Amino acid sequence: MKHLLSIADLTRADLDELLDLAGSFLSVTQRETPKVPALRGRTVVSLFFEDSTRTRLSFETAAKRLSADVMVFSVATSSVKKGEGLRDTVATIAAMGIDAVVVRHGSAGAPRRITEWIDASIVNAGDGRHQHPTQALLDTFTITQHRGRDLSGMKVAIVGDVRHSRVARSTSDLFRRLGASVVLVGPGTLLPAGGLGCGTCDDLDQVIGDVDVLYMLRMQRERMDSALVPDTAEYSERFGLDRRRAAMLKQTAIVMHPGPMNRGVEMLVDPASLPGSRILAQVRNGVAVRMAVLFTLLGGAPGGLMEAQ
Ligand code: NCD
Repeated sequence: MKHLLSIADLTRADLDELLDLAGSFLSVTQRETPKVPALRGRTVVSLFFEDSTRTRLSFETAAKRLSADVMVFSVATSSVKKGEGLRDTVATIAAMGIDAVVVRHGSAGAPRRITEWIDASIVNAGDGRHQHPTQALLDTFTITQHRGRDLSGMKVAIVGDVRHSRVARSTSDLFRRLGASVVLVGPGTLLPAGGLGCGTCDDLDQVIGDVDVLYMLRMQRERMDSALVPDTAEYSERFGLDRRRAAMLKQTAIVMHPGPMNRGVEMLVDPASLPGSRILAQVRNGVAVRMAVLFTLLGGAPGGLMEAQ
């Protein structure tokens, strides 16, 4: 595996290997010195053309915990603002001698294009509405911590703005490959045509008592061409997680959200008050999963995997 662009590129064996490795790295991240020399001498660049807090920090933390050098390309202060095109920007960075580029871009397919231009490994950290493979991996890792890798019989509801969500596209795909059944819940205007091969429903109350995983999404207004939800209050009323709905969840149900969370819109309870919330676990696991991805793509030093710094 040289690049990670889409969940579709992963075989079942790749997936198992990444999840196993993420488990090992999770234990590294819990050590007093959470660092291994596995990628010493390698350079990882984060190239984010869209806003991000957790994904960028998560990748940078992962690279540092593997002892890689990290370069951060900040679009806001770069020559992109002077009109430099993607290809020239990428070629310039590559000429500095780098091993991997973690790319987030507003256009679907941009990370794949970059693989045609430079030799480094490319990791897709979100491209338009298309894919967000490391989010899907960390979500899957988080669920399998509880349920193992056979998700058959498990019911997952992904709630909210599925239409604009690369997370929903990637995560639903991976959950279903492991056997879970996924229903997409939201107003018709926010559900994708064809339903991504999942069930669809426009009434959260109808399904909430029955699900094992409630996966909430943010409304991605920056990707909407028009106001698809005219009234936020009505949206919250119909699709928000409030106290009444939280009380309808099964005792064993878990609640997830990729972040950033909009309190008062889709999240009307304090997630810290939900016994089943795995939202911070998702963030914690994200670092371990991204360590596994970077280690795999860059073929980390033999013996460098677990040995302490
Ligand atoms: C998601 C994204 O950027 O697609 N966030 C993330 O990576 N943690 C979801 C979102 O922005 O709503």
